[in-house]
Amino acid sequence: MTLQLGLIGYPIMHSLSPWIHTQFLEAAGLIGEYDLYEINQNASFEKALMRLKDEQWNGFNVTVPYKQRIIPYLDEIDPIASSIGAVNTVINEKGKLIGYNTDGEGYLRAFQTVYPRTLTQDKQCLIIGAGGAARSIFVTLSKHGMRNIDIVNRTTRNAEKVAAAGEKHTTTNVISLDKVEKTLHKYDILIQTTTVGMKPLGNDTVFPVDNLKKGSIVSDIIYQPIHTTFLERAKQNGASILYGHRMLLYQAKAAIELWTNRSVKADHLIKPLQQILEGR
Ligand code: ATR
Repeated sequence: MTLQLGLIGYPIMHSLSPWIHTQFLEAAGLIGEYDLYEINQNASFEKALMRLKDEQWNGFNVTVPYKQRIIPYLDEIDPIASSIGAVNTVINEKGKLIGYNTDGEGYLRAFQTVYPRTLTQDKQCLIIGAGGAARSIFVTLSKHGMRNIDIVNRTTRNAEKVAAAGEKHTTTNVISLDKVEKTLHKYDILIQTTTVGMKPLGNDTVFPVDNLKKGSIVSDIIYQPIHTTFLERAKQNGASILYGHRMLLYQAKAAIELWTNRSVKADHLIKPLQQILEGR
């Protein structure tokens, strides 16, 4: 059987997903295609989904601006995607659309691959940012059992909304940007999810990272550039780091595993993915 997979969103022409999924399919010995289906904002979203069903796509990823908009069109939604309030992966089971969100799962798996047995529930985490990606990671880590996940964001109201999506066992303090530097020494894990430092916006960091706890792990989900200034500074200050392209790869791995019901290998793709990103 030839698998028909792809990505819907707008604009998506520079997406790395076709490359990543083609590598997964080849490595798993599966025959399939991963296509880009750009849905212009003026086009009918409903008609586009009908077309995917008519063409019998087996599954697809969803990206901006449709991650929330797709929810009313789904027949079922996974509880984690429901708590996140956004869907990035859909399985088409003979016309029945089931929605998932693999973004937080991708972060979690990426982390566990590089730092196995480190993400214990007592660790003090700080999520920087309160957008869609932050919410996916926050909900996933909370469901994973983490007891302390603080959030710092420019707009504290947005952080409060994310904090409200946590499980009962998770305690969350919302911290304002001007106070965060003083409390940095308390965190074992920092997760940078804002767009600050992303190409081509410039090489700023959202705040200085001089006051890190010894042994802390600092991650940035930005993958363009891979070596963000934030990670470079954290490294100079003694932190261990986790790069954003690993999350990109592992959210895709979680998606293809949902579509194919098989486990696929991903680690061999880290270097080639890095080379592609560095060549852009
Ligand atoms: P994504 O879906 O990729 O997470 P997003 O939803 O646009 O992206 O979220 C962007 C995040 O970056 C938000 O936390 C945003 O802060 P606000 O909630 O205050 O808007 C943060 N962000 C963007 N530009 C920023 C800046 N110049 N300084 C600090 N935070 C910034």
